[in-house]
Amino acid sequence: MNQRIWLSSPHLSGNEMKYIDDAFQKNWITSIGDNINGFEEDLKTYLGNNHQVIALNSCTSALHLALVMLDVNKDDEVICQSMTFSASANPIVYQGAKPIFIDSEPETWNICPIALEKAIKDRIVKGKIPKAIITVHLYGMPYKIDEVHAVADKYNIPIIEDAAEALGSSYKGKKVGTFGHFGTISFNGNKIITTSGGGVLVCQTQEDKDKTVFLATQARDNAPHYQHSNIGYNYRMSNIVAGIGRGQMEVLNHRVKARRAMHEFYLEVFNEIEGVTVFTEPSSDFYSNHWLSAILIDEKITGKTREELRLAFLEDYIESRPLWKPMHLQPIFADSPYYGGNVAEELFEKGLCLPSGSNLTDVDRLRIKAVIDKTF
Ligand SMILES: Cc1ncc(COP(=O)(O)O)c(C=O)c1O
Repeated sequence: MNQRIWLSSPHLSGNEMKYIDDAFQKNWITSIGDNINGFEEDLKTYLGNNHQVIALNSCTSALHLALVMLDVNKDDEVICQSMTFSASANPIVYQGAKPIFIDSEPETWNICPIALEKAIKDRIVKGKIPKAIITVHLYGMPYKIDEVHAVADKYNIPIIEDAAEALGSSYKGKKVGTFGHFGTISFNGNKIITTSGGGVLVCQTQEDKDKTVFLATQARDNAPHYQHSNIGYNYRMSNIVAGIGRGQMEVLNHRVKARRAMHEFYLEVFNEIEGVTVFTEPSSDFYSNHWLSAILIDEKITGKTREELRLAFLEDYIESRPLWKPMHLQPIFADSPYYGGNVAEELFEKGLCLPSGSNLTDVDRLRIKAVIDKTF
């Protein structure tokens, strides 16, 4: 039987154990220590622009804390890109606030600035200014940052940039995750680099960093006994896990290069197949890490559906996945307001994510190509 080819699996550098051993040697088996400081410093240097980084136990926690930091409370409204993973939206509900979902535009598949402005105007007419906007860089593709931020600035609404999938991507030469009031990045097992599970919150000031660390470590007031004036969370990253992150940071540039090479591979494979489009940057302003390569299949031209290709891959133990099912189509968010047309819905119907790991081999690529050639 052929070995399974995964969509995106962990790809270790081999240096992770050095940092984990260090944590053991020093007995910092807790949520403080050199690995946490080192991992935060590595990311701070990588992201640039003097941003601050807080290591947490997941990107979902980072999104939640961003909402807490922006004082999002019960019955507030928070705008969120519909075409995303549920973790972008769930923290809105953790705060008792109400998600308002927005359609995508067809070029970057991310939040549509026109639908965004329509939504803001309508929510204001209905009596509430949205408290925050959660934008997403889907599969690593930067959203239309200039256009989206111009709308947000016009109405003075802070942006939380969900860059969970986009470490290594940039827009006009600046790393994503550093454009919003807050940015968040994920290091779960399927991301471009991993800590097994983990995330960071990116912020602009030391003051915001200190407050986030305080909230993430149970919000203990400065007293010899346990004193609490705020609700806290247990969201800090462990010093052992951060050691994996330090080992992974050493190879991040190689991982970006390899994912982008997978994208090039698919461009070549589908070049001759009419009716299949490979998800690609709309202009040189956009630089995607191509965390996941994805395609749209036009059934009218190809005579094939994304489901047929997915099942053909499955038969050869190759994993592929439909694009995220938009949040406004999810049962859990059936009652949430939605603004836009059917761009996200169509992407979901036609789109498939393809094996994209930085650890795929030439033999894997031959197997992938054989299934594609056979199907079309
Ligand atoms: C767009 C997006 N947001 C948020 C998350 C949540 O990240 P985590 O698993 O680190 O909580 C993920 C991935 O898991 C994601 O893809």
